[in-house]
Order: sequence, then C-alpha cells, then structure tokens
Amino acid sequence: MSETTAKKRIFSGVQPSGKLTLGNYLGAIRNFDLLQDAYECIYCVVDLHAITVRQDPATLRRATLEVLAQYMACGLDPEKSTLFIQSHVPAHAELAWVLNCFTMFGEASRMTQFKDKSAKHADNVNVGLFDYPVLMAADILLYQTDYVPVGVDQSQHIEIARNIAQRFNNTHPGTFVIPEGMYPQAGAGAKICSLADPTKKMSKSDENPNGFILLLDKPEDIMRKFKRAVTDSDSRIILSEDKPGVSNLIQIYALATGKSVAEIEAEFAGKGYGEFKPAVGEAVVEMLRPIREKTEDLLKNKDYLEQVYTEGARRANYMAQKTLDKVYRKVGFVKR
Ligand code: TYM
Repeated sequence: MSETTAKKRIFSGVQPSGKLTLGNYLGAIRNFDLLQDAYECIYCVVDLHAITVRQDPATLRRATLEVLAQYMACGLDPEKSTLFIQSHVPAHAELAWVLNCFTMFGEASRMTQFKDKSAKHADNVNVGLFDYPVLMAADILLYQTDYVPVGVDQSQHIEIARNIAQRFNNTHPGTFVIPEGMYPQAGAGAKICSLADPTKKMSKSDENPNGFILLLDKPEDIMRKFKRAVTDSDSRIILSEDKPGVSNLIQIYALATGKSVAEIEAEFAGKGYGEFKPAVGEAVVEMLRPIREKTEDLLKNKDYLEQVYTEGARRANYMAQKTLDKVYRKVGFVKR
C-alpha cells in the first residue's frame, strides 16, 4: 500500500450512529465491494462524526463494531481494503483543525445537512455539528483520495471538501489531490427513499420505523414493512416521476434481483400492488439474508474484529501521517 501504486485511491466512510439501512447499503456499501479490485480502497467507521449528535457510549461502541462487521459481511476483504475506525487515527482530528482555518464560516453555514440536523436537534446545535463537513474533508484529503463513493445526499459535502483543498493548494501548491465524488447512477441506488414517505430519503433517524429497512432486520419485519409501503393512487407498476412510491420500489427490486426496469414492468403488467410489494420484500430478504448471517457470525468473533481494525489503523496511520507532516511543514509548524 504505497503512494507509488498505479491504482487510484478510494476513501469512504459510514457513521456508526444507529443501524445501517438498505439506503446505506444500496447507495454506498454495495459499491464499496465492487471497487475493491480496481482501486486501492480505504473504508472508515466514522465514530468522531457520530458524536455530533448525542450517543449512548455502550451503544456507540457496539454500533462501531457492527458497522465494521457489516462492511465485511457486505464483501469488504481486509486483505484487499484498509478497514479502520476513525478515532484510531489521530491525524483526522489534527488535520480538521488546520482545515478549519481554511474554511469560511459562510460556506459552512450553507450546508443543508447542518440546517436539517440543527432543526432536528434544536436543543444540541453544537460546534461539532457545524464542523462536520470540515472533519469529512480531513478524512478524504488525508489519504490523497481520488474518488469518494457516496450517495447523492453527500454531494454538498464533497463539494466543500474540494473547495477547501483548492483553497489550501492555492496558498500551498501541490499539497492535496482534489477528490471527486463517485455516485451511483440515478435509479441505481443514488437515493433510496423512505417506504413511509417516498419523497424523503430513507434514513435511520426517521421517527417512523416503517420508513426504513435495516440490514439486520428479521425477514418477517422486512416483509411487513414492504407490504405497508406507501404507494401511489393508481395501481400500475411503472417507473414514473409522478409515482415516487412505486418508482422507489421498482428501483429496490431492480437492484435486489438484477432485473431491468423494462423486465420488471413487463413482469407486473396487469398485476397490482398485492403481488408486487411482497415480491419486492422477498427479493430484499434474500439479498440481505447472507449479510445478516455473516454479520452475526463476525460479531461473535471479537478477537478477529480487533485484529482487523488494529491492522487497518496501522496502515491508515502510516498514510495519514505522511500527509499531516506535509501540511504541518507547509503551514510553518516546527518539526516535532
Ligand atoms: P452516513 O453514515 O449518513 O451514510 C453512509 C453512506 O450511505 C449513503 N446513504 C444513502 N444512499 C442512498 N440512499 C439513501 N437513502 C442513503 N442514506 C445514506 C450516504 O450517502 C453515505 O455514502 N457524511 C458521511 C460519512 C462520512 C464520509 C466521510 C463519507 C464521514 N467522512 C468521508 C465519505 C468520505 C455520511 O453521511 O454517512
């Protein structure tokens, strides 16, 4: 894993704030696996980001290991990719401080995720929440990342990371690689919507648990949530902008089965939601079954998980420290 490798570098992260959803899987993690051979991949469990909203300590610790286990259950191979926990690499917090001094208050104020989260957690609008995108920029820039695979909800954060990198490079040329976002195509997982309100993205922080599917949900819960999924007034199974509920289900069914939209529309022509919704549920149950079983197995083997995140942090620290040393030198800090 050296910087002389010909492979382009990928970095991405997932927050251990609660359980992973079908949105996290189809929008991001599923693609992480597909990228492992063609790129040098670094995947992080971003626990520093998670504490921007209040977390119960024991739950956070468990959720952090659960995300790591789910990464592996979704196909990430610790021999091929670097898998680590963000707080194990101090350079993330250190670079974030320097980048704070290259981020404008106005640009950070425009982040829609900050506005949404501060409305949702009005009693805890902390500075960390405001600084979230700067820490995310540090995550990405530390590894001289070429591409960042994420869902479209993260595009504004990728843009600010690019702006911060460019601003730093203008003063200190040649410091950072300017990263690019890598998004699934529209209709291929870029934005999976809530089953309860298909105009909103599927989110683990949705108050209505029928809106999201968790990767570790039991088959009967998955079936129940799909059978209850909100659909549209006419009962045709076709992809259409004015049918967000059915279109979301078609997208999920297509990703779970590998069928094209045309094939799905033909399969359900003349049939109603009564047949379609359980079919989507069953396809998702089958897609998630091996992931759930593998996660449960991995979580029983804490020693192995520890071995994976320790080795991941060792590799990540090595790469991150190189960039941090360069940044410290460029801004004028005395060598320690
Ligand atoms: P998080 O944990 O909120 O989301 C993890 C990934 O899942 C994607 N995602 C979705 N994609 C499609 N449809 C949905 N309904 C859906 N919900 C979530 C997100 O786009 C994301 O890719 N800020 C990041 C974590 C992060 C990060 C980074 C990512 C911290 N540092 C550096 C990349 C690089 C986040 O929101 O995670």
